[in-house]
Amino acid sequence: MTAQIIDGKALAEELRQGFKGRVEALTAKGHKPGLVVILVGADPASEVYVRNKVNGCLAIGMHSEKIVYDATVDQQVVLDKIAELNADPNIHGILVQLPLPKHFDEEKVLEAIAAAKDVDGFHAENVGALAQGNPRFIPCTPYGVMKMFEKGNVDLNGKEAVVIGRSNIVGKPMALLLINAGATVTVCNSRTRDLKFHTSRADIVVAAVGKPKFVTGDMIKPGAVVIDVGINRLPDGKLCGDVDFASCLETAGQITPVPGGVGPMTITMLLANTIEAAERKAAGN
Ligand code: GUN
Repeated sequence: MTAQIIDGKALAEELRQGFKGRVEALTAKGHKPGLVVILVGADPASEVYVRNKVNGCLAIGMHSEKIVYDATVDQQVVLDKIAELNADPNIHGILVQLPLPKHFDEEKVLEAIAAAKDVDGFHAENVGALAQGNPRFIPCTPYGVMKMFEKGNVDLNGKEAVVIGRSNIVGKPMALLLINAGATVTVCNSRTRDLKFHTSRADIVVAAVGKPKFVTGDMIKPGAVVIDVGINRLPDGKLCGDVDFASCLETAGQITPVPGGVGPMTITMLLANTIEAAERKAAGN
């Protein structure tokens, strides 16, 4: 059996086209959606992500700008900028690209962003709302994965789901979304004893562990849905996911590729969250 490929690139494009009308309507009413992305330091991968986020906004008629600080900047300078942006009526979304340099208190910075502008969904208030099953902003990567399930007609209710990875950015919110959708969820990590025991009985596997080709075909139940959140750079410069695509392709029922899978969906859902923030503001709530 060869798995059906869930094409994240095509779905991302379809969704982005659909956003244009909402952006136009908001702009016509004086609420052009605006996103500010803050980057501290010059990590090459982060620079690419930030550029793609800003360009993704501009391409559908939104306002977006990046603010870049030297890696040695004082945390207070960034906190003051966030306070200024919180009060700016033209800015609906604020995102601080992670990771931050070591001298930063990441939690303090994320909590400084107004919950209503936290389009990453990382503020404790938004994490709490998601945990209670009443999300306001859903973190972009797991939100994108949920859209891919929708596109692939994957019914999550009553299914066994295994999430590999427990980060605040992907693993934890992914697990919460799957729980909220009625799945039976196991959260594993790179140190889980006998990972195969868990994955081989899962109807859905989401790999977000940051280890190249960590999940192999022999670990997958025939017909399972395999979602690869990993983006790893191999010594030869090529990108590869956390899933060994070639071997899983033979076993899985549906699978996402890298590149062209979850990656393009993350930025798409960031656009969705920013538009939603602007729509809420325009509606006065
Ligand atoms: N670093 C890696 N992924 C993300 C993300 O989704 N948001 C932010 N702010 N930083 C990241």
